[in-house]
Amino acid sequence: MADLDDVKEGKDFGLDTPVDVKAFGLRGSNALDWGMQDRLARIFQEKSGNTVMLAFDHGYFQGPATGLERLDLTIRPLVPYTDVMMCTRGGLRATMPADSRKPVVLRCSGGMSVLTELSNELVAVDIEDALRLNASAITTNVYVGAEYEHKSLSNLVKLIDTGNRYGVPTMAVTGVGKDMARDARYFGLASRISAELGAHIVKTYFVEEGFEKVVAGCPVPIVIAGGKKLPEIDALTMAYKAIDQGASGVDMGRNIFQSDSPVGMIKAVRAVVHDGETPEKALQIYEDEKARALSPA
Ligand code: R5P
Repeated sequence: MADLDDVKEGKDFGLDTPVDVKAFGLRGSNALDWGMQDRLARIFQEKSGNTVMLAFDHGYFQGPATGLERLDLTIRPLVPYTDVMMCTRGGLRATMPADSRKPVVLRCSGGMSVLTELSNELVAVDIEDALRLNASAITTNVYVGAEYEHKSLSNLVKLIDTGNRYGVPTMAVTGVGKDMARDARYFGLASRISAELGAHIVKTYFVEEGFEKVVAGCPVPIVIAGGKKLPEIDALTMAYKAIDQGASGVDMGRNIFQSDSPVGMIKAVRAVVHDGETPEKALQIYEDEKARALSPA
């Protein structure tokens, strides 16, 4: 029963102090509902405004690719160092700890493979299951200019509309098919289309020429994929340039889990993304961690 004993009337309403309205600082997200902002705030860290997502969803069309043969052995040890786990529901449920407190960006598309046409995806997770997994965002690829452009955009719209119903943001991934251009014009087009359709985050690729314009033309935060494995200094330089030109973080996979020191590499990427360290200083973090792991206890 509610307790009615000694109910005291409020008397200090701070009448001289205007109500403090705290703006939500994330690009393009100020007008979103509370639950949506809460989920985005779990992804983008307060201090830097940026995020380091660890992408290990590749198996959804590549199978057990190098570095992802055993998610429990290779990825689980990296979880403490990432801001976000970006993965499939299968990988998450089967191999990731539920008590890590790390937000999940859930891959919600699939239905094709490396053996078939990549743009022919379908929505492969129901919003109810995404909610059951406490996803902080859901994601699908868009393949602008590809054979199944229309279908991939329609998948994105479907995710955005169902996500909006429950306060779950959607990240659009600008996929590149086998023979598709990888330049600023293409990524600018695909990113902007995704944002205009209502995506809350866009994941795209860094390009040497014109990346600033890709970011400027996209009204929501952009994170970059890492792409194929590069020498560590090159991957760190790419991350540095992307952040310097306005990206809000990385969603990086192979350049972390295929490194000879994945912990060293993710620590180095964090230094670039969150602390603005130069690629050279970040490389030292990677080297130090690698040496530490190799030296006898
Ligand atoms: C495609 O396989 C996935 O969306 C990956 O999450 C994405 O490509 C990022 O991973 P990586 O840094 O390995 O390119």
